[in-house]
Amino acid sequence: MSRPKLWKLNPLKFTKMSPARQAKIEASPAKPLPSLDSYKPNQIANALHPKAQYLKVVKIKDEAGGAKSYYLAPNQEKGTEALAWFSAGQYVSVTLKIGDMTLTRPYSLASSPRESLENIYMITVENVEGGLASQFILNNWKVGTEITTSAPLGNFTYEPLRDAKTVVVLVGGSSITPIRSLALAVADGDEDADLIILYGSRTLEETIFFQDLLNLEEKCERIKVVNIFSEEEREGYEHGFITAELIKKYAPDDEYSLFICGPQVMREFVDKEIETLGLRKKFIRHEVFGEYFGPSKEADYPENVAPSFKVTVRIAGKEQVITASSDISLLRSMEANGISAPARCRSGECGWCHSKLVSGEIYTPKIIDYRREADLIYGYIHPCSSFPLSDLIIEVPPFAE
Ligand code: FES
Repeated sequence: MSRPKLWKLNPLKFTKMSPARQAKIEASPAKPLPSLDSYKPNQIANALHPKAQYLKVVKIKDEAGGAKSYYLAPNQEKGTEALAWFSAGQYVSVTLKIGDMTLTRPYSLASSPRESLENIYMITVENVEGGLASQFILNNWKVGTEITTSAPLGNFTYEPLRDAKTVVVLVGGSSITPIRSLALAVADGDEDADLIILYGSRTLEETIFFQDLLNLEEKCERIKVVNIFSEEEREGYEHGFITAELIKKYAPDDEYSLFICGPQVMREFVDKEIETLGLRKKFIRHEVFGEYFGPSKEADYPENVAPSFKVTVRIAGKEQVITASSDISLLRSMEANGISAPARCRSGECGWCHSKLVSGEIYTPKIIDYRREADLIYGYIHPCSSFPLSDLIIEVPPFAE
């Protein structure tokens, strides 16, 4: 017997309750329902996916290249009793109040998932010259600073059903943070994978977690670290960039997954190199670390685009007209004009900034275009991965932590 097609059912029929069910409801005692929070499944869901986490900085450690690691614990006075569990490779979105502006930045969790059960997260902030958020954190966060983050988010995680048993990681600079977490999870026995980490940095002195990774390699035979220095030659280390030849030198002969995690310029270089390796698509994973810059270099970017456009932003019952550069994401342009817009990943993936494009035309680079079919039909965009191609009117949901 064929099953009825759902779209042919009349949903109004469901509203006509059967008499037996109606009688049962009427006969039940008129007691108020217990609070939804008293149900175990809801308690577990809230613990795993809290709307916000209120945390405190409990320790700060200096890292190579002027970076700093911040150890975060629950701020129980603000209502966070315990940290949410995460999978190695995930990030938290940190809310920052800088002057009159409220914005968010994603930071990968560099600690092991197991440490979250001891109520410790660690994030590492790179010393980016002129970086609005990073400089604010490096100059202002102290032991005791109270912060708000999202629950752990992101899909750059090891999945044994999809990924090969051996993972070759191609990573550059401060993007090592999620990989440190993954290596810790492997060493703890919480992830069942072999890791070969090809880690590019300029010099040994600037290599974040150099000693941590060396210790992990010594402790766990499933982890191998290959340091590649682009600006110095050292005996026992690779020199130059992560090329296809270098990958072939260290990758196993049989199946492996590639996890690529680094700044845009490194990703673009590495993506060309790996074309020659003939890997199946499902074995190539990217973490789009940080925001995307310079859409005009993409092959499908239109010609003769004006340098800037007028963008009318409707948000929280107000309307503001800003000038937005065609080379900068709409999210960044809004923030530069003092508009606090919702965001999490800042690279097109999470959908948190999902907004209505009322009129005008935008460009989204393929690598960060995660819009659904319905978004394209009904005119929704992700401002963090959208670049204006004309004057626009957009409706943006209000900022939410
Ligand atoms: S902030 Fe994640 S899609 Fe825009």
